[in-house]
Amino acid sequence: MSLFKKNKTKEFDFVLPQHVGIIMDGNGRWAKKRHLPRSAGHRAGAQTFRKITRYCSDIGIKYLTVYAFSTENWRRPGDEVDSLMKLFKSYLEEALSDFKDDSIVVRFIGDKAPFSEDLRALMIENEESSKDRDGMVLNIAMNYGSRDEIVRAVKSISGDVQKGIINIDSISEDTVSSRLYTCGQPDPDLIIRPSGEYRISNFLLWQCAYSEFVIMNKLWPDFTPNDMDHALEIYSKRNRRFGGV
Ligand code: FPP
Repeated sequence: MSLFKKNKTKEFDFVLPQHVGIIMDGNGRWAKKRHLPRSAGHRAGAQTFRKITRYCSDIGIKYLTVYAFSTENWRRPGDEVDSLMKLFKSYLEEALSDFKDDSIVVRFIGDKAPFSEDLRALMIENEESSKDRDGMVLNIAMNYGSRDEIVRAVKSISGDVQKGIINIDSISEDTVSSRLYTCGQPDPDLIIRPSGEYRISNFLLWQCAYSEFVIMNKLWPDFTPNDMDHALEIYSKRNRRFGGV
């Protein structure tokens, strides 16, 4: 963590979290309030995502994980899923050049397999072309579900036990962490959920063991850098004890 962080855009006189997770919620309600289709809410949400990602990178956040599409979101009406896939595709095409100036490293967490071939190719291209940058790591959770992630980790560890590569007694919390999509990254310090819902929704269940939660009463498309500052300030006043005293 960095105290009195000096950065491109501003200084904070409090400790910034290293890793922030955001559940980008409220796009549908934002659209409904304006008598617009849900797809318009997702488009507005995508603009906010770009703005907040750049802002986090500018102020010196090291890791940002955003929840874009869960393993359960496939249950939404076909036209909404289609519009989200189109949005992801156009965003990922632009993102190839978009985040270059900010040196952002783009990673996808989740199972890429169910996405169309062109979307999968774009995800891989974004990861490959940004992997040697030295800026903020942006994890985009797409077809991500934390229970699914944990099941995969269990299968991977059991497979290695079966093959005699690892011994059951040597399995530790680190062994599990190292089989998750976020392997090698610090756990999120702060998880922000806009739209006023008090739920974790299958997001980073293992990793959030000691995360601080900030729930904000703003719908995601209305979320601004000022709201981000507010969440960071709330976080800075929390007394994190990690189970100690
Ligand atoms: C939850 O709001 C939001 C989603 C399921 C989609 C999030 C996607 C974006 C913000 C698009 C941008 C992402 C990228 C990577 C370009 P909701 O639809 O459940 O809202 P509601 O609870 O008000 O109905």
